[in-house]
Amino acid sequence: MSDRIRNPHVRAKVMSADDAASFIHTHDHVGMSGFTGAGYPKVVPVALAARVRRATAAGEPFRVAIWTGASTAPELDGALAEANGVEMRLPYQSDPVTRRKINSGDMEYIDVHLSHVAPLVREGFFGPLDVAVLEVAGVTEDGALIPASSLGNNKVWLDEADRIILEVNSWQSLDLEGMHDVYYGLALPPHRKPVMMTHPGDRIGEPYMRCDLDKIVAVVETDLPDRNSPFKPNDAVSEAIAGHFIDFLQHEVRVGRLPKGLLPLQSGVGNIANAVLAGLMEAPFDQMTSFTEVIQDGMIDLIDAGKVSIASATAFSLSPDYAKRMNQEAAAYRESIVLRPQEISNHPELIRRLGVIACNGLIEADIYGNVNSTHVMASRIQNGIGGSGDFARNAYLSTFVTPSTAKGGAISAIVPFVSHVDHTEHDVHVIITEHGLADLRGLAPRRRAHKIINTCAHPAYRPMLQDYFERALRVANGLHTPHDLEQAHAWHRRFLSEGTMRVKPPSLSQSDRMFRSPLG
Ligand code: COA
Repeated sequence: MSDRIRNPHVRAKVMSADDAASFIHTHDHVGMSGFTGAGYPKVVPVALAARVRRATAAGEPFRVAIWTGASTAPELDGALAEANGVEMRLPYQSDPVTRRKINSGDMEYIDVHLSHVAPLVREGFFGPLDVAVLEVAGVTEDGALIPASSLGNNKVWLDEADRIILEVNSWQSLDLEGMHDVYYGLALPPHRKPVMMTHPGDRIGEPYMRCDLDKIVAVVETDLPDRNSPFKPNDAVSEAIAGHFIDFLQHEVRVGRLPKGLLPLQSGVGNIANAVLAGLMEAPFDQMTSFTEVIQDGMIDLIDAGKVSIASATAFSLSPDYAKRMNQEAAAYRESIVLRPQEISNHPELIRRLGVIACNGLIEADIYGNVNSTHVMASRIQNGIGGSGDFARNAYLSTFVTPSTAKGGAISAIVPFVSHVDHTEHDVHVIITEHGLADLRGLAPRRRAHKIINTCAHPAYRPMLQDYFERALRVANGLHTPHDLEQAHAWHRRFLSEGTMRVKPPSLSQSDRMFRSPLG
């Protein structure tokens, strides 16, 4: 047995994953650790999925609700969705099988701001939490839990669950001990107090998670790696986006709106965000800080290069090579990385106070600056809002980055009217594509439209967007935010949504001509 379980009471609960999974009952609400492919339980969900399949084969459907920190990995979301064992999922996912089940109506999905999960759970909106299944790096002599590579909602699950199952993973570095800062001071109104943090590096909590040891019903030992996909190599598009972003930051420093070391950076999920971080390696900013959700490869490079002095997040989201390196060298990063519960990493009060520069991806933005981060063609969920709303709404500078087109140029990311709104025009300061950057601050709607069409849209789509805008001006006849709703609808109607998007064969009718894809 691993010497990572130093508490005898907890050691006495060691058993197999199958036995541990038997503590989970059908229709239970199960809170699992995990935030991206980091720190998620790796064997109990698989054992649970096997149990679901056996029960289903025996004609006794077995389904549970799964609550997590954010997205996880195939052993959790993928395995349970494949077995059709999830009746409800929250708060963010990016798993292809889960996405399919949600969009086919087989799984309910509640997509909430990541900072809202903890208070909503405490207020009882999702019902009681029956079981917590958490991966930890170890258990101390006195029963404190040493967190693994993500914190997410773990503290809330431990507080709220009736039963606790631990996976003690010896793949996770014990040198993570001391990197976490678990804050226990948050309460619901009217008992809320200010969170006393004025710098991303401030430590306001404890390095361990606590729980009532009597609630621990099972402990499973594992030795399995975290799993995040490697990032795509940067290409001309992501490098151009990063270039515009960095030029803009330099401009903001020159005009005195940002200090030389910038303000704390938040970078969203995905390849473009990682490319922006890579671009910052060459940029003339030093002593940068980060107050963000996940630490990606690019952030590790910035720390190694001495460009970033401190990064605060709730999880690592590292490619396999970087995760391996972090495991070997975690001790060296304890001064420069703080991992916090997501109710702190995404706390609106802190994001606003620290003056965060937010940078997130999008699916589509409209000519007035509304952003859709979550739905393809209004109805089909892609991932979820994640922390983008926490950051965009409260940031000092809220930027969104995207290639100007999707699906090989067949779809423009800039549209007349977003088909779903996650971030309103009021929360979107800057939109950046490979073609340019539109700074929307201080601009009234028509000026925003002009800027977005002529700066961000792919040149091939600009005439169509301009044509829409001019029609809207005629239809709305002087109104504040001109739209022609029929034509806005027609823009999206061009596309069929059958599994993946594809372009409808172009109609030759006069009225449809303006909406044909100029890129073929
Ligand atoms: N119409 C149709 N499909 C579109 C599209 C559009 N306008 N824009 C993107 N897509 C598709 C892409 O083609 C791709 O599909 P595929 O997986 O079948 O290839 C998929 O959406 C993802 O797009 P990609 O270009 O790979 O972008 P990404 O990895 O940078 O992700 C978001 C973009 C918006 C999906 C992602 O940033 C996200 O989930 N954001 C919301 C949560 C968030 O911002 N979290 C960070 C907060 S801290």
